[in-house]
Amino acid sequence: MGLLEGRVALVTGGAQGIGLAIAQRFAAEGASVVIADIDLDAATAAAEAIDGPAAGVRADVVDPDDVAAMVAATTDRFGRLDVLVNNAGITRDASLKNMTLEQFRQVIDVHLQGTWLGMKEALAVMKAQVADGRADGGAIVNMSSISGKIGNFGQSNYAAAKAGIVGMTKSVAREGAKHAIRVNAIQPGFIDTAMTRAMPADAQEAATSSIPMQRAGQPDEVAKVALFLASDLASYCTGITIEVTGGRHM
Ligand SMILES: NC(=O)c1ccc[n+]([C@@H]2O[C@H](COP(=O)([O-])OP(=O)(O)OC[C@H]3O[C@@H](n4cnc5c(N)ncnc54)[C@H](O)[C@@H]3O)[C@@H](O)[C@H]2O)c1
Repeated sequence: MGLLEGRVALVTGGAQGIGLAIAQRFAAEGASVVIADIDLDAATAAAEAIDGPAAGVRADVVDPDDVAAMVAATTDRFGRLDVLVNNAGITRDASLKNMTLEQFRQVIDVHLQGTWLGMKEALAVMKAQVADGRADGGAIVNMSSISGKIGNFGQSNYAAAKAGIVGMTKSVAREGAKHAIRVNAIQPGFIDTAMTRAMPADAQEAATSSIPMQRAGQPDEVAKVALFLASDLASYCTGITIEVTGGRHM
Protein backbone atom coordinates (compact mmCIF):
# COMPACT_ATOMS: atom_id res chain seq x y z
CA MET A 1 0.00 0.00 0.00
CA GLY A 2 1.49 3.34 -1.08
CA LEU A 3 1.79 6.29 1.25
CA LEU A 4 -0.68 8.31 -0.87
CA GLU A 5 -3.05 5.50 -1.87
CA GLY A 6 -6.47 6.94 -2.81
CA ARG A 7 -5.28 10.56 -2.55
CA VAL A 8 -5.48 13.20 -5.25
CA ALA A 9 -2.52 15.56 -5.63
CA LEU A 10 -2.07 18.72 -7.69
CA VAL A 11 1.48 19.88 -8.47
CA THR A 12 2.13 23.29 -10.02
CA GLY A 13 5.14 23.68 -12.29
CA GLY A 14 5.03 19.90 -12.54
CA ALA A 15 6.09 19.53 -16.17
CA GLN A 16 9.82 19.31 -15.39
CA GLY A 17 12.47 19.43 -12.69
CA ILE A 18 11.51 19.18 -9.04
CA GLY A 19 7.75 19.38 -9.73
CA LEU A 20 7.92 16.48 -12.18
CA ALA A 21 9.91 14.39 -9.70
CA ILE A 22 7.25 15.12 -7.07
CA ALA A 23 4.42 14.13 -9.42
CA GLN A 24 6.24 10.88 -10.31
CA ARG A 25 7.04 10.05 -6.69
CA PHE A 26 3.44 10.76 -5.57
CA ALA A 27 2.06 8.58 -8.40
CA ALA A 28 4.42 5.75 -7.40
CA GLU A 29 2.91 5.99 -3.90
CA GLY A 30 -0.63 5.57 -5.21
CA ALA A 31 -1.83 9.14 -5.75
CA SER A 32 -3.83 10.34 -8.73
CA VAL A 33 -1.87 13.33 -9.98
CA VAL A 34 -2.69 16.55 -11.81
CA ILE A 35 0.30 18.33 -13.33
CA ALA A 36 -0.41 22.03 -13.79
CA ASP A 37 2.08 24.07 -15.77
CA ILE A 38 2.21 27.19 -17.89
CA ASP A 39 3.49 24.88 -20.66
CA LEU A 40 0.47 22.73 -21.59
CA ASP A 41 2.33 20.46 -24.03
CA ALA A 42 4.98 19.66 -21.44
CA ALA A 43 2.34 19.12 -18.72
CA THR A 44 0.37 16.79 -20.97
CA ALA A 45 3.47 14.83 -21.99
CA ALA A 46 4.57 14.53 -18.35
CA ALA A 47 1.14 13.27 -17.30
CA GLU A 48 1.06 10.73 -20.15
CA ALA A 49 4.44 9.37 -19.07
CA ILE A 50 3.24 8.78 -15.51
CA ASP A 51 2.42 5.19 -14.62
CA GLY A 52 -1.03 5.66 -13.03
CA PRO A 53 -3.96 8.07 -13.11
CA ALA A 54 -2.66 11.48 -14.17
CA ALA A 55 -3.74 14.57 -16.09
CA GLY A 56 -1.97 17.65 -17.41
CA VAL A 57 -3.57 21.10 -17.34
CA ARG A 58 -2.39 24.54 -18.37
CA ALA A 59 -2.29 27.11 -15.60
CA ASP A 60 -0.36 30.30 -15.07
CA VAL A 61 -0.22 30.41 -11.27
CA VAL A 62 -0.25 34.22 -11.36
CA ASP A 63 -3.71 34.25 -12.93
CA PRO A 64 -6.58 33.85 -10.42
CA ASP A 65 -8.89 32.34 -13.07
CA ASP A 66 -6.26 29.79 -14.12
CA VAL A 67 -5.65 28.77 -10.52
CA ALA A 68 -9.37 28.36 -9.83
CA ALA A 69 -9.67 26.37 -13.06
CA MET A 70 -6.76 24.04 -12.24
CA VAL A 71 -8.33 23.19 -8.88
CA ALA A 72 -11.74 22.70 -10.51
CA ALA A 73 -10.16 20.50 -13.20
CA THR A 74 -8.67 18.35 -10.44
CA THR A 75 -11.94 17.86 -8.58
CA ASP A 76 -13.86 17.35 -11.85
CA ARG A 77 -11.43 14.68 -13.01
CA PHE A 78 -10.65 12.86 -9.77
CA GLY A 79 -13.48 13.94 -7.43
CA ARG A 80 -11.39 15.49 -4.68
CA LEU A 81 -8.16 17.29 -3.76
CA ASP A 82 -6.01 16.04 -0.89
CA VAL A 83 -2.56 17.48 -1.62
CA LEU A 84 -1.44 20.71 -3.27
CA VAL A 85 2.22 21.37 -4.04
CA ASN A 86 2.90 25.01 -4.90
CA ASN A 87 6.11 24.42 -6.82
CA ALA A 88 6.00 26.62 -9.95
CA GLY A 89 8.90 29.02 -9.98
CA ILE A 90 11.16 31.27 -12.03
CA THR A 91 14.34 33.25 -11.52
CA ARG A 92 15.21 36.67 -12.93
CA ASP A 93 18.59 37.20 -11.29
CA ALA A 94 20.33 40.57 -11.39
CA SER A 95 22.12 42.81 -8.90
CA LEU A 96 19.86 45.38 -7.28
CA LYS A 97 21.47 48.02 -9.49
CA ASN A 98 20.57 46.18 -12.67
CA MET A 99 17.28 44.51 -11.73
CA THR A 100 14.26 46.08 -13.36
CA LEU A 101 10.99 46.59 -11.53
CA GLU A 102 9.45 44.17 -14.01
CA GLN A 103 11.96 41.45 -13.06
CA PHE A 104 11.22 42.09 -9.40
CA ARG A 105 7.48 41.89 -9.90
CA GLN A 106 7.59 38.78 -12.14
CA VAL A 107 9.39 36.78 -9.49
CA ILE A 108 7.27 38.09 -6.62
CA ASP A 109 4.10 37.35 -8.59
CA VAL A 110 4.92 33.77 -9.61
CA HIS A 111 6.09 32.72 -6.15
CA LEU A 112 4.07 34.81 -3.71
CA GLN A 113 0.86 35.51 -5.61
CA GLY A 114 0.95 32.03 -7.18
CA THR A 115 1.37 30.28 -3.84
CA TRP A 116 -1.24 32.49 -2.18
CA LEU A 117 -3.81 31.86 -4.91
CA GLY A 118 -3.15 28.12 -4.88
CA MET A 119 -3.57 27.92 -1.11
CA LYS A 120 -6.72 30.04 -1.19
CA GLU A 121 -8.45 27.76 -3.73
CA ALA A 122 -7.17 24.50 -2.28
CA LEU A 123 -7.92 25.33 1.35
CA ALA A 124 -11.57 26.01 0.48
CA VAL A 125 -11.92 22.64 -1.27
CA MET A 126 -10.07 20.76 1.46
CA LYS A 127 -12.10 22.42 4.24
CA ALA A 128 -15.35 21.48 2.48
CA GLN A 129 -14.17 17.86 2.12
CA VAL A 130 -13.36 17.67 5.83
CA ALA A 131 -16.66 19.35 6.79
CA ASP A 132 -18.77 16.87 4.85
CA GLY A 133 -16.78 13.87 6.04
CA ARG A 134 -15.17 12.99 2.69
CA ALA A 135 -11.67 13.59 4.01
CA ASP A 136 -10.00 13.60 7.40
CA GLY A 137 -7.53 16.31 6.42
CA GLY A 138 -5.38 17.71 3.66
CA ALA A 139 -1.81 18.76 2.99
CA ILE A 140 -0.21 21.73 1.26
CA VAL A 141 3.51 21.81 0.48
CA ASN A 142 5.06 25.12 -0.60
CA MET A 143 8.41 25.30 -2.40
CA SER A 144 10.61 27.91 -0.78
CA SER A 145 14.39 27.99 -1.25
CA ILE A 146 17.46 28.23 0.93
CA SER A 147 17.89 31.61 -0.81
CA GLY A 148 14.97 32.78 1.35
CA LYS A 149 16.98 31.92 4.47
CA ILE A 150 20.40 33.28 3.56
CA GLY A 151 19.81 35.66 0.62
CA ASN A 152 21.87 35.30 -2.55
CA PHE A 153 23.74 37.93 -4.52
CA GLY A 154 21.51 38.95 -7.44
CA GLN A 155 18.37 37.44 -5.94
CA SER A 156 16.74 40.32 -4.05
CA ASN A 157 13.48 39.40 -5.82
CA TYR A 158 13.76 35.62 -5.43
CA ALA A 159 15.05 35.66 -1.83
CA ALA A 160 12.23 38.00 -0.80
CA ALA A 161 9.64 35.79 -2.47
CA LYS A 162 11.05 32.58 -0.99
CA ALA A 163 11.29 34.09 2.52
CA GLY A 164 7.73 35.35 2.08
CA ILE A 165 6.57 31.82 1.29
CA VAL A 166 7.82 30.71 4.72
CA GLY A 167 5.76 33.37 6.50
CA MET A 168 2.74 32.64 4.34
CA THR A 169 3.10 28.92 5.07
CA LYS A 170 3.05 29.55 8.83
CA SER A 171 0.01 31.85 8.60
CA VAL A 172 -2.05 29.42 6.56
CA ALA A 173 -0.85 26.51 8.72
CA ARG A 174 -2.55 28.26 11.65
CA GLU A 175 -5.76 28.71 9.61
CA GLY A 176 -5.81 25.11 8.38
CA ALA A 177 -4.82 23.40 11.61
CA LYS A 178 -8.23 23.00 13.18
CA HIS A 179 -9.46 21.38 9.96
CA ALA A 180 -6.49 18.94 9.98
CA ILE A 181 -5.09 20.65 6.89
CA ARG A 182 -1.33 20.78 7.27
CA VAL A 183 0.75 23.43 5.51
CA ASN A 184 4.52 23.08 5.29
CA ALA A 185 7.44 24.30 3.21
CA ILE A 186 10.66 22.96 1.72
CA GLN A 187 13.86 24.92 1.21
CA PRO A 188 15.95 23.12 -1.41
CA GLY A 189 19.56 24.09 -1.85
CA PHE A 190 21.38 23.49 -5.15
CA ILE A 191 19.34 20.94 -7.11
CA ASP A 192 20.25 19.65 -10.57
CA THR A 193 17.46 21.04 -12.80
CA ALA A 194 17.11 23.34 -15.80
CA MET A 195 16.97 26.28 -13.36
CA THR A 196 20.46 25.63 -12.01
CA ARG A 197 21.90 24.35 -15.29
CA ALA A 198 21.15 27.84 -16.67
CA MET A 199 23.66 29.32 -14.21
CA PRO A 200 27.19 30.17 -15.45
CA ALA A 201 29.58 27.17 -15.11
CA ASP A 202 31.79 28.92 -12.53
CA ALA A 203 28.74 29.73 -10.39
CA GLN A 204 27.67 26.08 -10.56
CA GLU A 205 31.15 24.95 -9.50
CA ALA A 206 31.27 27.47 -6.65
CA ALA A 207 27.87 26.30 -5.44
CA THR A 208 28.81 22.62 -5.55
CA SER A 209 32.11 23.10 -3.73
CA SER A 210 30.35 24.94 -0.90
CA ILE A 211 28.03 22.00 -0.22
CA PRO A 212 29.25 19.80 2.67
CA MET A 213 28.00 16.73 0.76
CA GLN A 214 30.01 18.00 -2.25
CA ARG A 215 27.32 17.43 -4.88
CA ALA A 216 24.12 18.92 -6.23
CA GLY A 217 20.88 17.37 -5.04
CA GLN A 218 18.69 15.38 -7.39
CA PRO A 219 15.03 16.39 -7.93
CA ASP A 220 13.82 13.14 -6.40
CA GLU A 221 15.68 13.95 -3.18
CA VAL A 222 13.36 16.95 -2.83
CA ALA A 223 10.40 14.84 -3.96
CA LYS A 224 10.98 12.36 -1.14
CA VAL A 225 10.71 15.18 1.40
CA ALA A 226 7.56 16.47 -0.31
CA LEU A 227 6.18 12.93 0.00
CA PHE A 228 6.92 12.93 3.71
CA LEU A 229 5.13 16.26 4.22
CA ALA A 230 2.19 15.25 2.01
CA SER A 231 1.66 11.89 3.66
CA ASP A 232 0.48 10.72 7.06
CA LEU A 233 4.14 10.24 8.03
CA ALA A 234 4.02 13.98 8.82
CA SER A 235 0.62 13.83 10.55
CA TYR A 236 1.74 16.11 13.42
CA CYS A 237 3.85 18.52 11.36
CA THR A 238 2.45 21.86 10.31
CA GLY A 239 4.04 25.27 9.71
CA ILE A 240 7.51 23.77 9.40
CA THR A 241 10.20 24.34 6.78
CA ILE A 242 12.57 21.51 5.88
CA GLU A 243 15.96 22.28 4.35
CA VAL A 244 17.09 19.86 1.60
CA THR A 245 20.57 21.15 0.94
CA GLY A 246 23.24 18.48 1.49
CA GLY A 247 24.22 20.52 4.55
CA ARG A 248 24.73 23.82 2.73
CA HIS A 249 23.86 26.89 4.84
CA MET A 250 22.84 24.72 7.81
N1 LIG B 1 16.64 23.91 -8.77
C1 LIG B 1 17.02 24.38 -7.60
O1 LIG B 1 18.21 24.33 -7.23
C2 LIG B 1 16.02 25.00 -6.65
C3 LIG B 1 16.47 25.39 -5.39
C4 LIG B 1 15.56 25.94 -4.49
C5 LIG B 1 14.24 26.11 -4.85
N2 LIG B 1 13.82 25.74 -6.10
C6 LIG B 1 12.42 25.93 -6.41
O2 LIG B 1 11.85 24.70 -6.79
C7 LIG B 1 10.79 24.94 -7.73
C8 LIG B 1 11.03 24.13 -8.99
O3 LIG B 1 12.28 24.51 -9.53
P1 LIG B 1 13.01 23.71 -10.71
O4 LIG B 1 14.45 23.82 -10.47
O5 LIG B 1 12.38 22.38 -10.88
O6 LIG B 1 12.66 24.67 -11.94
P2 LIG B 1 12.36 24.37 -13.48
O7 LIG B 1 12.64 25.66 -14.16
O8 LIG B 1 13.07 23.14 -13.93
O9 LIG B 1 10.79 24.07 -13.49
C9 LIG B 1 9.86 25.06 -13.15
C10 LIG B 1 8.53 24.71 -13.76
O10 LIG B 1 7.59 25.74 -13.39
C11 LIG B 1 6.86 26.10 -14.55
N3 LIG B 1 6.38 27.48 -14.39
C12 LIG B 1 7.10 28.61 -14.43
N4 LIG B 1 6.30 29.69 -14.29
C13 LIG B 1 5.04 29.22 -14.14
C14 LIG B 1 3.78 29.83 -13.95
N5 LIG B 1 3.66 31.17 -13.90
N6 LIG B 1 2.71 29.04 -13.82
C15 LIG B 1 2.82 27.69 -13.90
N7 LIG B 1 3.97 27.06 -14.10
C16 LIG B 1 5.08 27.81 -14.21
C17 LIG B 1 7.81 25.93 -15.71
O11 LIG B 1 7.14 25.82 -16.95
C18 LIG B 1 8.55 24.66 -15.29
O12 LIG B 1 7.88 23.49 -15.76
C19 LIG B 1 10.77 26.45 -7.96
O13 LIG B 1 9.82 27.05 -7.10
C20 LIG B 1 12.16 26.88 -7.57
O14 LIG B 1 12.22 28.22 -7.20
C21 LIG B 1 14.69 25.19 -7.01
